[in-house]
Amino acid sequence: MKAIKSCLTISAAVFCLTVASPAAFSAAKDKVPGDAKGVENPVEADDDVLKTAKKIYKKKCKKCHGSKGDGKGPGAKDMDPLPPDWTAGIDATDGELYWITMNGSADTEMKGWQAGMAKEGKEVSEEEAWGLVHYIRSLGN
Ligand code: HEC
Repeated sequence: MKAIKSCLTISAAVFCLTVASPAAFSAAKDKVPGDAKGVENPVEADDDVLKTAKKIYKKKCKKCHGSKGDGKGPGAKDMDPLPPDWTAGIDATDGELYWITMNGSADTEMKGWQAGMAKEGKEVSEEEAWGLVHYIRSLGN
């Protein structure tokens, strides 16, 4: 009996770990309209763009996505779904990452950052969002 009980405890722990760790891939990209998926990044990834994006990321994204982009930001602890772990690889096109940044992922804590969706003064411009896409990719390396 004792063996069965500890086994149950162990499987409960494994189950909890599975539930609590960020998925490598989010389902968010399934919500992106077809014509937005293939849009290419019009912004070049130079040092200035990455530096600006890093600043914006720290201010607006890090609390959930984590400083490394692993989805373990302190603000994301109890979220369901959790933000994805970009450090495990990014399975999304630039167009998808951009669209989700601007429009969010419906019914999750990922809110859209475009004007009219984000709180006043917190919006992300189109150019900044494309820069963020480059920055997110750099976290995936
Ligand atoms: C309040 C928490 C929170 C903040 C702040 C936040 N996100 Fe998210 N984000 C999430 C969650 C949760 C998901 C997963 C959504 C899903 O699975 O549908 C997500 C998903 C995403 C995705 C889709 C990722 C993929 O690989 O499919 C992108 C892109 C994204 N966020 C960009 C950003 C950017 C850029 C910022 C900052 C401007 C930001 N997020 C701020 C919680 C947050």
